[in-house]
Amino acid sequence: MEKVLRNFFLYLANHQRLNQLAKKHGLRFGGRRFVAGETLAEGIDVIKALNRQGMMATLDHLGEFVDSEEEANAMAEHCIEAIESIAKEKVDANLSLKLTSMGLDIAYDLCLHNMERILEVARKYRLFVRIDMEDYAHLENTFAIFHDLRERYDNFGLVIQAYLYRSVDDVKALAEWKTNLRLVKGAYKESPEVAFPDKKDVDENYKKIIQLQLESGNYAAVATHDENMIAFTKRLVKERDIPLDRFEFQMLYGIRPELQKQLVREGYRVRIYVPYGNDWFGYNMRRLAERPANVAFVLKGIVKR
Ligand code: FDA
Repeated sequence: MEKVLRNFFLYLANHQRLNQLAKKHGLRFGGRRFVAGETLAEGIDVIKALNRQGMMATLDHLGEFVDSEEEANAMAEHCIEAIESIAKEKVDANLSLKLTSMGLDIAYDLCLHNMERILEVARKYRLFVRIDMEDYAHLENTFAIFHDLRERYDNFGLVIQAYLYRSVDDVKALAEWKTNLRLVKGAYKESPEVAFPDKKDVDENYKKIIQLQLESGNYAAVATHDENMIAFTKRLVKERDIPLDRFEFQMLYGIRPELQKQLVREGYRVRIYVPYGNDWFGYNMRRLAERPANVAFVLKGIVKR
């Protein structure tokens, strides 16, 4: 049943018409549980509150389907505005973005150019930019953009998804570029040809890539709400004497807030992924796919209206 619901929500997440409708009607149906608000100012307010609790943030302007050059350029402008706002408000945050929002599906060079604009401004403010990893269909081009930019910029990093068979090799290859990696289990619907279908295999592979990245000496962002994976990381850094400033835990806004605070109390670096904007539908559907029990929150949101 869990698998059926997961596939259903991932199908909804990818439904262009529903995404457009949701965008038009604003943030509702319990959407605020996972999204800071519709505006940049609301995102910054949430970050200020997180900073007061000892947590860092990564700010994400939501954008699912971008299909014109104008839209991609506007998304890049939003990112630049977000960077300037982070600097002006002096909040402890960096930026996360998706390459499809920067125009990857429209033209490779458009996306590359938008990334150059963003990384230039980020560099001016000494700010780090994280390129989120999307579905497998975009993986090769994401790596290509990475290599095109890496010689000129060092203020950005990638995400590696443990559900992909190739992820161990990718972590090894990216170590040569001293890449700062966020490590996740993976949130999209993928074919068994490219991704482990069973959760237990994903978890085992996740441990492998955490260990590889931490032992490479490159910065690791262990992005999970799974207490077993967090315990594994804590044990490993203790055994290997890895300093606390070589890695951080990351979690999504609105998920396991008590665990987030507990890690801060224990002295770990914790960063929260804070999405904002009106294009919230696909993001929220992926959160439901991860844990169909979240549907209860959505239903409450509908009933409250
Ligand atoms: P798992 O799914 O095994 O969950 C472990 C436990 O965490 C659950 O039992 C539950 O208690 C809790 N939990 C997990 N998800 C929950 C939810 N939605 N609601 C409530 N509780 C939940 N993916 C990707 O493909 N590309 C990317 O770029 C990113 N980026 C990213 C950034 C950050 C900061 C995080 C934390 C995650 C991502 N992800 C991602 C998503 C990631 O791939 C994965 O889908 C989710 O983190 C869920 O997996 P967990 O590791 O939490 O474990």
